Amino acid sequence: GGTPDKLRHVESMSERPSGAGSISGISAVVLGESLADEEHELVFPSAEFSATALVSSPQQYKEMYERSIKDPAGFWSEIADAFYWKEKWNPSEVCSENLDVSKGPVHISWFKGGKTNICYNAVDRNVEAGNGDKIALYWEGNEPGQDGKLTYSELVEKVCQLANYLKSVGVGKGDAVIIYLPMLLELPIAMLACARIGAVHSVVFAGFSADSLAQRIVDCKPKLVLTCNAVKRGPKPILLKDIVDAALVESEKNGFSVGICLTYENQSVMKRQDTKWQAGRDVWWQDVVTNFPTKCDVEWVDAEDPLFLLYTSGSTGKPKGVMHTSGGYMVYTATTFKYAFDYKPTDIYWCTADCGWITGHSYVTYGPLLNGAAVLVFEGTPNYPNAGRCWDIVDKYKVSIFYTAPTLVRSLMRDGDEYVTRYSRKSLRVLGSVGEPINPSAWRWFYNVVGDSKCPISDTWWQTETGGFMMTPLPGAWPQKPGSATFPFFGVQPVIVDEKGQEIEGECSGYLCIKKSWPGAFRTLYGDHDRYETTYFKPFAGYYFTGDGCSRDKDGYHWLTGRVDDVINVSGHRIGTAEVESALVSHPQCAEAAVVGVEHEVKGQGIYAFVTLVDGIPYSEELRKSLIAKVRTQIGAFAAPDRIHWAPGLPKTRSGKIMRRILRKIAAKQLDELGDISTLADPGVVDQLIALKDC
Ligand code: PRX
Repeated sequence: GGTPDKLRHVESMSERPSGAGSISGISAVVLGESLADEEHELVFPSAEFSATALVSSPQQYKEMYERSIKDPAGFWSEIADAFYWKEKWNPSEVCSENLDVSKGPVHISWFKGGKTNICYNAVDRNVEAGNGDKIALYWEGNEPGQDGKLTYSELVEKVCQLANYLKSVGVGKGDAVIIYLPMLLELPIAMLACARIGAVHSVVFAGFSADSLAQRIVDCKPKLVLTCNAVKRGPKPILLKDIVDAALVESEKNGFSVGICLTYENQSVMKRQDTKWQAGRDVWWQDVVTNFPTKCDVEWVDAEDPLFLLYTSGSTGKPKGVMHTSGGYMVYTATTFKYAFDYKPTDIYWCTADCGWITGHSYVTYGPLLNGAAVLVFEGTPNYPNAGRCWDIVDKYKVSIFYTAPTLVRSLMRDGDEYVTRYSRKSLRVLGSVGEPINPSAWRWFYNVVGDSKCPISDTWWQTETGGFMMTPLPGAWPQKPGSATFPFFGVQPVIVDEKGQEIEGECSGYLCIKKSWPGAFRTLYGDHDRYETTYFKPFAGYYFTGDGCSRDKDGYHWLTGRVDDVINVSGHRIGTAEVESALVSHPQCAEAAVVGVEHEVKGQGIYAFVTLVDGIPYSEELRKSLIAKVRTQIGAFAAPDRIHWAPGLPKTRSGKIMRRILRKIAAKQLDELGDISTLADPGVVDQLIALKDC
């Protein structure tokens, strides 16, 4: 036994366990009581790391975790006290909830009666604490050598100017604002400015197509859309304003017209005179925002007032407007950031996610700034101008916490160690992973090569809906197993249930659910509380259902096994198979489509589409391309199918339901595992499908 004080190389560790069968909680092994036979699969933090860690031992985690479960109100109130509240919450209503549909409508609330403002807490509070001169945001542009920075004091001023402008055009508390911007500093500034005045931001990832943007505009009816004229991604210029123009035409056709399109002139890419313009509606950011005062009163909002909507994919074609509120989200993102990355005030933090996704909301903008951190915002792509860009940036800014996605790790791993080892990377202290399960070989490469075998990896499992980390190693607290998200964060009670919704104890596999709410939980789907209840709370009564499969090993470590619904995860981007299908069938020559996920070496999952054509239309390469183009224009390039498999027919049950299980096996080329096909209306379809090669 005993905890070794040296970090080990992890090459010899076993691959991920298949997961089946016994105990919950933290086992003796993790507590360091019986390490002998388990040592080979554990990676220990160094004694040096643990000595200064916020949580430095499994025992300390266990005590804090138990308190958070036994007394959530006390645990979270103490943490919330460190923030500024204009009015304190009602002590008897720290948390109130009903997750059980049989007992009435599902509702969750935290810190009820409290009034606060997340922008004030993330920015002004740091200035008032004497850190006004500290860098809040560093910016690294697409081209090496293009950069910028803002101190906390400068950030408040920028945020206030925009907030004042928004107020001047009538944007107020509760109004929606759509933000369609690349990773310029204006993006977090815009989010904070909305939060400051109580407006509800909805950031749409700037890789979404005009159609997708229009769909979101029509759903949330923003007072204003914020964008920029153009941006370069790698070597390629993208005319964002043209996409917005098309979206605004489309949304007008669908009954909603946007009054103002505030456009940032991204001068290094495109000049204003080259930008298409609609006078009366379009306004240059630089012409108006800079004229406003650099001070702006804060709108104090209720803890349960909405902070933002973020659209995400589900199992139907219509995206869901996940709604997060102010108080609980603030406390939760700040706390998870602090512990999961063992944050120290001297850290330089870089998260490669775009603010268009939840990771960018919680862990580029809010979580880090609430901790007064120095955050790097990177506009470019990780392999431009070459595969060494990330490590060049790490050295340039002395990044100490680097948080990214497994897909990026795998793609850089393929480019070879040389791109990594030519940089020093000695500032790195903690690494993080998010978006999909990280396979053990990518984990080891990240750990050994990027982190020089000295940086713990926080493999953070969470979702758009959860607001913040749900399971993650706390670096310094316990030994890790490559590929496992380890244990729940404070206050989170994960359970694994079987088909019938019975909790299974110990070593087992099943559906991952959460018992009880946590402060960062989403409160509803915008305009559709029924769908909220149906999707998340009806499948297993009394629990929040995550949509993920999970197994727990004999030491109590959790291993996420991927989505169990019709959602796939491509390069960490969540895509509904139904959305891709509906884009494909909108092609006039496509009669029917069925989309499944298939294992992909770099992306984690690739998109595999079975397509049935309208009678009499022949297969062709040209048609394949135009089908893919259809998905690009309806959703965005990131959702383009990797494979089109021509399908004379699709395997359906007699009641007409497509049997995706069979399609998944065909896509994975596991033809001997097709299982029972006798319930198909026409079992002959399967042979036809196998005979026709994908192209
Ligand atoms: O399947 C899980 C996977 O990503 C899904 C959530 O996607 P999204 O809402 O887009 O949020 C992504 C960023 C939080 C989950 O249902 N996922 C996310 N992180 C992990 C993960 N799967 C395994 N391990 C992770 N660390």
